Amino acid sequence: MIVCMASGNGSNFEAIVKSGIKIDLVITNRETTRVIDRAKKLGISCVFDKTEYESSVPENTQLVILAGFMKILSKEFVEKYPTVNIHPSLLPSFRGKNAVPQALDAGVKIVGCTVHWVDEGMDTGKIIAQQSCEVYEDDNEHTLHARIHELEHKIYSQTIKQILRTL
Ligand code: GRF
Repeated sequence: MIVCMASGNGSNFEAIVKSGIKIDLVITNRETTRVIDRAKKLGISCVFDKTEYESSVPENTQLVILAGFMKILSKEFVEKYPTVNIHPSLLPSFRGKNAVPQALDAGVKIVGCTVHWVDEGMDTGKIIAQQSCEVYEDDNEHTLHARIHELEHKIYSQTIKQILRTL
């Protein structure tokens, strides 16, 4: 069983499903999010639990895919279930929330996204794949995050397919 955990928009979740990866269940910790509508449209079961989201994951889960999931998972959880995440920066730079504004504030010229294993820290797990793009002079948070999102939608699906072949 493959589970996706998401707290918000869910565009990565949708891109993963549309790339042909079979996601069996979506778990969200927020009651009203776009990811719930996307799951409904795609015919995928979605469970909401504000606090007990970890115990909503079925025992027979082979891979947990985080896609904009805004909670830190317990050590026990990430040791039990292989869990991957995508983050909108070239880790280890700009961990945590607001990675895109952090990069703009720092004035870096190259940004990107990182697919990594999840450990009990905040964006500290082992890096699996990265993709970069340029920052343009006239970029703002919205335009830059949109460009990174485009990269995310491709690299996340590709990387998950590679991982699934090894499970
Ligand atoms: C993405 O930028 C991802 O890197 C970060 O949260 C955002 C989720 O976007 N972890 P979406 O909900 O998949 O559209």
